[in-house]
Amino acid sequence: MAVNTTTWNRIRYGLSAPIYDVVTAPLQAMGFSTARRRALELLSPRTGSRLLIVGVGTGLDFEHLPGGVEVVATDLSPQMVERAAKRAAASGVEAQVRVMDGERLEFPDSSFDHVVLHLILAVIPDPLACAREVSRVLRPGGTVSVFDKFVSDNERPSMLRRALNIVTNAAFSDINRKLGPILDAGGLELVEREPAVSGLFTIALAQRRRDPQQSMAADAGAVGGPRFVPGVRS
Ligand SMILES: C[S@@+](CC[C@H](N)C(=O)[O-])C[C@H]1O[C@@H](n2cnc3c(N)ncnc32)[C@H](O)[C@@H]1O
Repeated sequence: MAVNTTTWNRIRYGLSAPIYDVVTAPLQAMGFSTARRRALELLSPRTGSRLLIVGVGTGLDFEHLPGGVEVVATDLSPQMVERAAKRAAASGVEAQVRVMDGERLEFPDSSFDHVVLHLILAVIPDPLACAREVSRVLRPGGTVSVFDKFVSDNERPSMLRRALNIVTNAAFSDINRKLGPILDAGGLELVEREPAVSGLFTIALAQRRRDPQQSMAADAGAVGGPRFVPGVRS
């Protein structure tokens, strides 16, 4: 029986919405806040660009966004959306905040320049479906900011970790997901990957392929292709 379902997420995050900021405050202070800032620095949304946040939670990323960006923020939980909307208003961020499933985005194709996926890919039941939807709503060449916990792509999680995951997956998130296959499912290319929060988490910048031919040329080292940092994709 699947423990991580959309219904369960709606319930568990609805219940945790009122205490989310208080409970995660020590984590923000211990490096989450720095990681969010760094991830959004890599994304560098341009003035006038359209940016989508999937699984916005209470809106802890808002304070790290530059001004002049058109922000649309979504979350499965109405309680989270209510808090994110209040935070946006209080912090002067002009954001449209909506209840929405990240596996079924209600936006037209190619309607965003950037997507933020912070602490959602390890939570959402089907991260591959989410990546496909993110890619669909991104314009070709559009970029994605990721901040989450992953095991490296070529690592088989230890038995202890797999056992622990039964508990963490039911309680808050899956600790055994791999970033590479998720990006691949969406036709997203890794541009940059960095360790964060003492190496326990990952920050990544990815890009929607412009077209398969261009990306093959870029992989072969053609000028103008995405910046690929050797050794960061494990
Ligand atoms: C760990 S919290 C992270 C919140 C926020 N991104 C942050 O960085 O603080 C995960 C969030 O994902 C939301 N979520 C879970 N499943 C979702 C889904 N299918 N679609 C959209 N959001 C979802 C939850 O409601 C919760 O707000």
